[in-house]
Amino acid sequence: MSPGVKAAAKDAEKVRLELIRLGAFDSGLKIKRTKNYVILPVKKEKVGELGKKFALIEAKFETQEVRKKFTDYLHEFLLSEEIQHARTSFDVIGDIAVIEIPEELERREQKIAESLLLAHQNIKTVFKKGSEEKSEERLRELKFLAGENKTETLHNEHGCRFKLDVAKVYFSPRLSYERQRILEQVKDGEAIADLFAGAGPFSILLAKYRDVKVYAIDANPAAVEYLRENIKLNKVESRVIPLLGDAREAAPRNVATRVIMNLPKSAAQFLDLAFDVIERGVIHFYTISPEEDLYDSKIKFIESVAEQKGRAIEILNKRIVRPYSPRNYHVVIDVVVK
Ligand SMILES: C[S@@+](CC[C@H](N)C(=O)[O-])C[C@H]1O[C@@H](n2cnc3c(N)ncnc32)[C@H](O)[C@@H]1O
Repeated sequence: MSPGVKAAAKDAEKVRLELIRLGAFDSGLKIKRTKNYVILPVKKEKVGELGKKFALIEAKFETQEVRKKFTDYLHEFLLSEEIQHARTSFDVIGDIAVIEIPEELERREQKIAESLLLAHQNIKTVFKKGSEEKSEERLRELKFLAGENKTETLHNEHGCRFKLDVAKVYFSPRLSYERQRILEQVKDGEAIADLFAGAGPFSILLAKYRDVKVYAIDANPAAVEYLRENIKLNKVESRVIPLLGDAREAAPRNVATRVIMNLPKSAAQFLDLAFDVIERGVIHFYTISPEEDLYDSKIKFIESVAEQKGRAIEILNKRIVRPYSPRNYHVVIDVVVK
């Protein structure tokens, strides 16, 4: 038996927070709940000071299972000089984790990957991330480390489902907020050209929540195959038109109210095309910029292309999407084309 505070179920959260504030809540034990009241476990040494304020009783509590964190596992086998090199951030796409392993820890990579599986039950497979997204498809080399050796998965984002093969199709869960940000700008009735659509994370999200027509283009056949499957999976067949091919050939001209250009390392080469595709509206121009010049040179470039194309523009927003590499950022500039 251990001490606990009895409270009405409706006050449970308020009392729990107050006990935490007083340093009295015993997080090693589970709260007992009935329909009308709860008993919150408290530390024995705090009983004296709680007595005046709370209804104290003795109860039998179950112990709280404490799941070890990824970093707890790492501390068990990495030396202190190794710990400083360990990256504890990783991408999770569906049930596949992709982690960066620095050179200094390569000999420990297997154990690091197994620790990730132990700490996160939703992860079934761990890959190591290669150095650069080199190919046109922007794919990173992946090395299998632990778990089930498979590359296809189903990823959920903002209520949409995306089936994809992480070895064949680019997908970054780190763009989730950016996709939500674009969705908030889109209105019913728009025509959208997603020039580098991949398996469809922008296109499908926009089509699922807005009554829009989306031209979703990608040059990677594997990406378009998954895009087609994801269109069906998310029931947006009437709103998304998948197009396989180089955006320069496949993109429709003079139709769009919005153009999405998420090919950050080479979008500049396609900006003239975006002006041809847009009728009037917004171009979301993604690029990679050094920290000392995040936007100025890029905006000058956008202005020069607009001038060549005889189009009036205005810069609507600019923001960092995510860090890209040391001292470089993936940024977006939203450009209104009038
Ligand atoms: C950075 S990924 C973005 C994919 C997707 N928009 C996303 O956010 O996950 C860029 C995509 O552009 C495609 N791509 C590269 N060059 C292309 C081109 N010239 N025309 C059409 N697609 C291209 C690649 O196959 C890749 O799927």
